[in-house]
Parts: sequence; structure tokens; C-alpha cells
Amino acid sequence: MRIILLGAPGAGKGTQAQFLMGKYGIPQISTGDMLRSAIKEGSDLGMAAKRVMDEGKLVSDDIIIGLVKERIAKDDCKDGFLLDGFPRTIPQADAMKDADIKIDHVIEFDVPDDVIVERMGGRRVHPASGRVYHVVYNPPKNEGRDDQTDEELIIRDDDKEETVRHRLGVYHEQTKPLVGYYAAEAEAGNCEYHKIDGTQPVGDVSEQLNKLLD
Ligand code: AP5
Ligand code: ZN
Repeated sequence: MRIILLGAPGAGKGTQAQFLMGKYGIPQISTGDMLRSAIKEGSDLGMAAKRVMDEGKLVSDDIIIGLVKERIAKDDCKDGFLLDGFPRTIPQADAMKDADIKIDHVIEFDVPDDVIVERMGGRRVHPASGRVYHVVYNPPKNEGRDDQTDEELIIRDDDKEETVRHRLGVYHEQTKPLVGYYAAEAEAGNCEYHKIDGTQPVGDVSEQLNKLLD
């Protein structure tokens, strides 16, 4: 199964990706996580990406498209994958199409901006696994520690309110047009398009996802 998770920063893509990965045994391809590990490694890509990400802007299409194509070509993607945070621009979506990479389901998480800003303030992440928590809405079993490894959770550098607002602006301008893009793709019979109310509790969103993907 090949799935695209579409939605604003903080809409819950990473959170739901964790459930879907387990359920369908397909890898999560999070371009954000890939860039953050490049930053941690201190590679040239990481150095260039850090500046852009800290400002809440998008990394260039060429770089991202190259990364994703290389990742999708790996063995573990043969039976499908979950794209989280990609595509994020029309050229990125076109690149998938030009490469003949078919998508089965596009899932849009609909969450208003005010809710997003509140969520991001409480987000905590486990960088090594991509597991995501919220101090109130999805708390870890032990405060500040990952459920599975007991390692320390961190706050992402781009979760400052000012940066979050900037990221939301970028989302509306550059990513939101993909809603129409994939609605048209679904109309043409190339994929299924589902819109989910992402303001529901985490478990309810998962349940709804399960129903529509089964
Ligand atoms: P990326 O890491 O992809 O960030 P994003 O898209 O902005 O999304 P987030 O990871 O912030 O949110 P999410 O939807 O995964 O929400 P989450 O589940 O964590 O990208 C970071 C940067 O990298 C970009 O700004 C850009 O610079 C660059 N980049 C990445 N991809 C790129 C691309 N394709 N092209 C160009 N540049 C790219 O949840 C958020 C919080 O809410 C958590 O605390 C969670 O516990 C909580 N939560 C989740 N669901 C619920 C719920 N239903 N109810 C209550 N709380 C909830
Ligand atoms: Zn995420």
C-alpha cells in the first residue's frame, strides 16, 4: 500500500504514521526526519538544510526529490510506503508522477491553525525512532522519556511559536494546492482521496484511518 499523509505542520502525520507502519508493515518516509538526521550527522546537506528549516522555509525541490527517489528505490519499499511530509509542493508531486510512482491513498488531515499552534507548544519527540508525544494529548508513560527505549525526549528547534506561524504560512501558500491536485488525481481514477478531521483525539483519528484503509 502506498500512502501520502498530507496536512499542515502539527496536523498529526507523524503520530498516525507510527500506527500505520506497525499495522501494514510498510516504512515511514518522513522527509523532515531524514533532514534532521542529516543535520545530526553534520553532512553538507544537513548544514544547508538546518538554516532553511530553522526559518520554517522549505528545502529546495531538487534536493528533496532526489532524497525521496533514492529512498523509495530501496528494498523495504517494494510492498509500499508511507510518505510523511512529502510531496509538499506541486513540482514534488509532479516528480512522483513523472517517475511513474503510483499512489493508492492520499489522506488529508484537516486541522485549523489555532489548534496547530497550541499543539506544537507541547510536542516532544524521540529523534531516533520518530515517535511523537504531546505533554497533554499524548503523554509518554514516564515524563520526558520515550516509552520503548526510556531515552530522553526533545523539543524540535522549529517548534517555537514564531517559526510555527511561519511554517503555517508556507503550508497554505505552497502545500495546500496539493489538495486540489490530488482531488483531481482521484477524480481521474489514479488514487483515492480521503479527508479526515484531525482535531479528533489521536485514537479516534487512527480508528477512522483503519476503517477507510481496510
Ligand atoms: P516536517 O518534519 O515534515 O514537519 P511538518 O510537516 O511541519 O510536520 P510536523 O512533523 O511538524 O507535524 P506532524 O503532522 O507530523 O504532527 P505530529 O504527529 O508530530 O518538516 C520539517 C521541515 O523540514 C520543514 O519545515 C521543511 O523545512 C523541511 N522539509 C520537510 N519535508 C520537506 C519537503 N517535502 N520539501 C521541502 N522541505 C521539507 O503531531 C504534532 C503534535 O500534536 C504532537 O505533539 C502530537 O503528539 C500532537 N497530536 C497529534 N495528533 C493529535 C491529535 N489528534 N490530537 C491532539 N494532539 C495531537
Ligand atoms: Zn512529522
